[in-house]
Amino acid sequence: MNASIFFLFLIFSVIDSPAPASARDMPSLADSEKTYQQYCAPCHGDRGDGNGFNAKNLDPRPANHTDAVFMSKRSDRELFDAISGGGRAVGKAAIMPPWGNTLNTSQIKYLVRYLRKLCGCDSEQ
Ligand code: HEC
Repeated sequence: MNASIFFLFLIFSVIDSPAPASARDMPSLADSEKTYQQYCAPCHGDRGDGNGFNAKNLDPRPANHTDAVFMSKRSDRELFDAISGGGRAVGKAAIMPPWGNTLNTSQIKYLVRYLRKLCGCDSEQ
C-alpha cells in the first residue's frame, strides 16, 4: 500500500479503538475496590481491618476502616483529605502516604464511598 493509504488506515484504526479514554477512566465502586486492594491493602489489609502485611512494622498502626465508631467520627471531606494529602494533611502520621498525585479526584471520591461500605457507617459530622 502507498504511504497516504497507510496513513488513512492509521487514522481510522485510532478512531475505531474501543472505548474513549474518558469512559475508560470513569471509576466505579467496583474499580475502587480494586484500587483499594492495589494501593491500600498492603497496610490497611484486604478487608480494611488495618492488618495488611506491612501493618506490624508500622507505628502508629494503619487505621481500621471497618471500625464504625472510628470512621463515623470522620467526615467524607476529612477522609478525602487524608487520602489525597496523606496523614500529615489531617494532623496524623506521615506514614499514611499522600495519593493525590497517583489517583485522580473521582478515584479518591469513590475510595471514600468504598471506605463507607467497609465500615457500614455514615459520617456523624
Ligand atoms: C504505607 C502504609 C499505608 C498505605 C499504603 C496506606 N495507608 Fe492509610 N494509613 C496508614 C497509617 C499508618 C495510618 C494511621 C495514621 C495515624 O493514625 O496517625 C493510616 C490512616 C488512614 C486513614 C485515617 C486517617 C484519619 O482520619 O485518622 C485513612 C482514611 C486512610 N489511611 C486511607 C488510606 C487509603 C484509602 C489508602 C490507599 C489509597 C491508604 N490509606 C494507604 C498507612 C497506610
